[in-house]
Amino acid sequence: IQLQASEEKMLQYVSTAFTKEFVPISNGSLLWTLSFCSDHVKDKTPIVLMHGFGGGVGLWAQNLDELSQQRPVFALDLLGFGQSTRPVFPTDAAEAEEQFVESIEEWRASLGLESMILLGHNLGGFLALSYSIQFPGRVKHVVLVEPWGFPDRPETSDSDQLIPVWIKALSAMFRPFNPLASLRLVGPLGPTLVQTLRPDFKKKFSSLFSDNTVSEYIYHLNVQSPSGETAFKNMTGPCGCAKRPMLQRIDQLHPDIPISIIYGSRSSIDSISGFTVKKMRPRSHVEIIMIRGAGHYAYADHPEDFNHRLLDVCDKVD
Ligand SMILES: *[C@@H]1O[C@H](CO)[C@@H](O)[C@H](O)[C@H]1NC(C)=O
Ligand SMILES: *[C@@H]1O[C@H](CO)[C@@H](O)[C@H](O)[C@H]1NC(C)=O
Repeated sequence: IQLQASEEKMLQYVSTAFTKEFVPISNGSLLWTLSFCSDHVKDKTPIVLMHGFGGGVGLWAQNLDELSQQRPVFALDLLGFGQSTRPVFPTDAAEAEEQFVESIEEWRASLGLESMILLGHNLGGFLALSYSIQFPGRVKHVVLVEPWGFPDRPETSDSDQLIPVWIKALSAMFRPFNPLASLRLVGPLGPTLVQTLRPDFKKKFSSLFSDNTVSEYIYHLNVQSPSGETAFKNMTGPCGCAKRPMLQRIDQLHPDIPISIIYGSRSSIDSISGFTVKKMRPRSHVEIIMIRGAGHYAYADHPEDFNHRLLDVCDKVD
């Protein structure tokens, strides 16, 4: 209930009409989904937005209006995250990844989408590519925003950078729990702590919120019982990189599927992986886009620039 209320607060300034629903997939699981589909754009290929580790649909608050003016937009909470069902994932990295990918395909079929421009941030980027390898006919363009899990060695100087600083600070206090478990323990103090330890989250959405809306949403996203976060942990090797790195599999992606990779120029994630992808696919379209001044959450740091560059990419699709 609290997660739902805090998500509604995140989305309060979205002015385009949209529907919210739990999309049913197998095993009785439900994926929480926002759908934007105005009449004047309904014949275009939709953009599907997949958040990163510990994220949810509300994080796209500053992108939904602008993107949905140009084409249909769908945003989902990944299986095991946000308001979606939180199943027990297999402990094996390949099997956990397979379950995520299966859930995305069943979600697509359930909504009846023929094909998509599939965009994923962080863990969502890893899954977007894994999905595209398995279901090439459903993907017209794959957009990776600061993707996780590409190289087989640490991508940043700080190897577990992907676990946000504020979670690390808390988990240091509560070892040996799951990184996010500490949030569960701090209880009602949580949102305040998130804000104290992670003031940049507030800044990212400063054009929309000057209060605690964002911190509360992040808190409620991550205080739920762990599921996707456990799967992510099991998919991660000791160096903080993926156990099954994407760069070792990129050659399995159909050569006709174009890739755009978006980085924030100030992110600690190295764009080297993006350039490696480009080198590995000399005869395929790979475009690298830098959002100047943006960090890891490029779409929230500089939403106008991000939306504009993304819509340019989409214009090449149809
Ligand atoms: C459904 O459950 C089975 C068995 O646990 C699992 O292999 C499969 O991946 C699950 N499918 C989805 C979409 O969660
Ligand atoms: C996966 O996670 C479970 C639950 O946290 C843990 O017990 C198990 O040892 C992990 N397995 C691997 C291979 O990391």
